[in-house]
Amino acid sequence: MSRSGVHPDQQPVELDLSDFLYEAVDASEFINVKSWAASFDEIPVDPYIKEGYRYKSIAWFRIKHRKAPAIDGIDEKIAAVNRLSGMSEEEGSRYLSTGMPAWESKETGYCCWKLPQYVMQQSIQYNPVHGGMRRVYPRISDKVIDSEDFRRLLIHYAAFFGWGDAVVLVQFQRVDCWVNRTGQPAIEGFHQDGNRHVGMLIVNRDNLTDDSGVSQYVMDDNGKKTDELVFDAVIPPGRLIYWNDKRVWHYGTELRVADATVNGGRGVRDIVILSAKTPPANMPMGPLPGRTR
Ligand SMILES: [Fe+2]
Repeated sequence: MSRSGVHPDQQPVELDLSDFLYEAVDASEFINVKSWAASFDEIPVDPYIKEGYRYKSIAWFRIKHRKAPAIDGIDEKIAAVNRLSGMSEEEGSRYLSTGMPAWESKETGYCCWKLPQYVMQQSIQYNPVHGGMRRVYPRISDKVIDSEDFRRLLIHYAAFFGWGDAVVLVQFQRVDCWVNRTGQPAIEGFHQDGNRHVGMLIVNRDNLTDDSGVSQYVMDDNGKKTDELVFDAVIPPGRLIYWNDKRVWHYGTELRVADATVNGGRGVRDIVILSAKTPPANMPMGPLPGRTR
């Protein structure tokens, strides 16, 4: 694993973000993305995108190094959302840093708690399209979540940035297009999501033109988008890219079908988005649906 100065018996040292913009990693060396491709077919359409080109499932995790102190704000947030979900103290305490992790990485010392299926509740500041509202998404399939490859992905993300404690939101997302209808990977245009850093793994690009679904970053200037394009390329399946969400704004160009006679005239792009949250940053977790008091 790259930049893995992470050791089970030492508190990790965080990557200095002041001079980090982005870095691409060949994840096919440690993840067989082809084995995940089929799971994207099962993801239901995202009801919050009325044009129907997006499909999304999510899951929440807490990834904390065994030698790092727990961040109180994370435990407080999880406890608060659990209470709002109507959980008993006993049930909710399983998801705190004092509870037993679901697994631990012996090589790095990172521990993982699988968190409940909290709804996404972003702040309006970061998402003018969907900020504030509660969005309910189905869970990523357990078969994927409990796979060794998935664990390796979470550990790679944590070790790359070297954080001590964070909540990680994982999103499996498909965007599709048809001959007469394009797909929009980033409906809001160039944007930031209010994270410190983000990872994106491309799982599949099928029947798309080579010049569509292009990933682009422009530089940030004190919270404002600039026109300085610093990345402009199609990221191929198997490639994982990390970027500094404070320093660049990201966008994905629209998707277009390559061959109308293939796949019934449909094209798809399947990705995994990883975003780590630590207070005081935006922690877009809301109570479990249907259990709100
Ligand atoms: Fe985004």
